[in-house]
Amino acid sequence: VHPLRQDPVRYGDVVTTLAILTAAGSGTRLGHDLPKALVELDGLPLLLHAARRLCASGVIDRIVVTVPSGAGPRVRDLLQNDPAVTVPVEVVDGGGTRQASVAAGLALAAHDDDVVLVHDAARPLAPPALVRRVVAAVRAGYRAVVPGLPVTDTIKLVASAEQLSAADAVHGVEPVTWTVDRTWLRAVQTPQGFDRALLDRAHAAGESRAADESLAATDDAALVEELGEPVHVVPGDDLAVKITTARDLRFAGLLLLEDS
Ligand code: C5P
Repeated sequence: VHPLRQDPVRYGDVVTTLAILTAAGSGTRLGHDLPKALVELDGLPLLLHAARRLCASGVIDRIVVTVPSGAGPRVRDLLQNDPAVTVPVEVVDGGGTRQASVAAGLALAAHDDDVVLVHDAARPLAPPALVRRVVAAVRAGYRAVVPGLPVTDTIKLVASAEQLSAADAVHGVEPVTWTVDRTWLRAVQTPQGFDRALLDRAHAAGESRAADESLAATDDAALVEELGEPVHVVPGDDLAVKITTARDLRFAGLLLLEDS
């Protein structure tokens, strides 16, 4: 019997799934004053695209959204008035890093969910089938699950900045130290799914990194890996692209046209 099934109190008949939707990032790299999650794609804020798809999966019981401070009332309004957002939603002020924002979401959401999904509003087109795939793997007993796609570029490691010679620096070149075998590389996306207790433990153990952008984990699975606990990859989806720049936003617009 898998550990997820061993505790009849927590994992008896009802398994509930919380989604933490991270939306507290700024829109600076998008060239916007608005928080990125409120920037519109096809007339709809990114975070609404993401929340609608989470709901359409049919496997999410509630959503906690991390928002930039001051944006709470606006985001709550948007979500509560959207008929396609069919589960209860709470908002919480995010932190200075993505890791700190997820921790704030976990702290708000107490301990009564069995499965937690962490999803970036910056991946607004992640489809319902992907959400279901991740949740199904967690419910099957894999306690930390990330979607990932094979990498098509050849990836090279380069020397660190301190290892550059003065001439390298002048000419703007970086010495290559290694070419990674891409067979075993996966570009990892969200939503990522976790057994609740494991994710709580991972964030508690990594808490000291959360305040510093240069130390903070860029995904939640990395904190689980730090604990020495296994993380598994399920197939990702081309639609789950991350929006960082204005060009990414235009590309997502094209994907949306193709998808409809
Ligand atoms: O900035 P980046 O695109 O890496 O952010 C990934 C996701 O994390 C975005 O959805 C963003 O809104 C969220 N985030 C957050 N709190 C932060 C920084 C980013 O919730 N302090």
